[in-house]
Amino acid sequence: MKRYIIVVFIVVVFAILYSCKKDTTLPADFKATPYTLKIPARFPAPIIAIDNPMTEEGIKLGRMFYYDPILSTNGKSCVTCHFRENSYSSAPLFLASNGAKISVIPHINLAWNPDFLWDGSEPTLDREPLADFGPEFFNTNMSELIQKLKNHPKYPILFKQAFNIDDIATLSEKDLQLKIVYAITQFLRTMISADSKYDKMLKRQVNFTPEEMDGMQTFMTERGDCFHCHGDPLMTSNTFNNNGLDSVLTGSNLGRYLVTLNDFDKGKFSSPTLRNIELTAPFMHDGRFTTLEEVVEFYNSGVNWNSPNIDPIMTKPAKKYGLGLSTTQKANLVKFLKTLTDTAYINNKDFMSPF
Ligand code: HEC
Ligand code: HEC
Repeated sequence: MKRYIIVVFIVVVFAILYSCKKDTTLPADFKATPYTLKIPARFPAPIIAIDNPMTEEGIKLGRMFYYDPILSTNGKSCVTCHFRENSYSSAPLFLASNGAKISVIPHINLAWNPDFLWDGSEPTLDREPLADFGPEFFNTNMSELIQKLKNHPKYPILFKQAFNIDDIATLSEKDLQLKIVYAITQFLRTMISADSKYDKMLKRQVNFTPEEMDGMQTFMTERGDCFHCHGDPLMTSNTFNNNGLDSVLTGSNLGRYLVTLNDFDKGKFSSPTLRNIELTAPFMHDGRFTTLEEVVEFYNSGVNWNSPNIDPIMTKPAKKYGLGLSTTQKANLVKFLKTLTDTAYINNKDFMSPF
């Protein structure tokens, strides 16, 4: 009898051990499923890194990492600063270690950006989140993270499916970080916004009010000249420009110059997309404006003509004394900007937490 109990005991122990083992075996011919981005009508070709092709499995893994505080030692994850309801931006300004206040950039159509961050210092989306492992963000302890991932019920098999990696621990810390970031950026590339009232109006699914129509006139013609730097369809020219926020440039207000050290780049910033702009206050790289009305008034009457390298569009002779928009025209311009809001985007379940 005693022997019988011992045998049962051993069998039970083995059964438990077996069920706990993270089985990463997949059929020998297993291949991750290629994912093709659905490109909205009128959009140009997206920029997909050759070394990080998108797959269903990679996107699934990236979505988990995006939301999972497992990457940090301080409970932070990407959503600590990127809130869905703010188009994956957030109102509190980020305080950099050098004291600079930085407005959190939203995620919108990142697959079309040729450069990242306000000063364009990161040329590749697939490298941008690497900084998040650092002390200012996740303060990640890599050896701890490797253990947590290895013992996790889901991550080992997901790594195998997405990147054909059998054992996470065989990767160098750098390579592991890169794979995590590759997965996250595959997910980020799926975050496409092209279903705003503006898009629907162009597809003739809805009509603009006369006020919105008038605002669009200001935006798209020489009356307001906004389209030069925030043009259709991405609502950004993806260029670096100085829109005349300051006449004297110091510290982080030097913008692109801090990356290139070229005097010609002083005061230039990456012209941001205006899609979902209603959701992403405060505005400009340092969040100096709280409302769209303030932004419009800045372009109407507050541009600093003597700012170094100010964009020639801002100083066209007719603009010498500002845009000269009437109160109604300014209000209508704001109404037009609000037609760029895409609620289907922020309510898209595919982007929400998988946990
Ligand atoms: C502590 C707050 C914080 C956390 C956490 C955070 N971000 Fe950000 N993110 C920012 C700020 C601030 C910027 C703008 C920084 C700049 O331009 O200097 C930014 C910019 C970005 C950009 C650039 C977008 C563009 O169009 O240039 C991407 C992409 C991004 N974050 C992705 C992520 C991902 C992915 C994570 C998680 C791995 C993450 N962020 C975590 C604050 C944060
Ligand atoms: C010469 C190019 C240029 C023109 C023309 C221009 N902008 Fe901008 N815009 C920029 C740049 C560059 C920034 C970011 C500046 C910064 O943060 O330092 C910006 C920022 C903004 C922002 C804030 C975006 C954010 O995410 O915080 C809004 C809103 C905006 N512009 C609206 C307009 C409107 C409305 C017009 C027309 C009246 C206009 N812009 C004309 C280049 C331009």
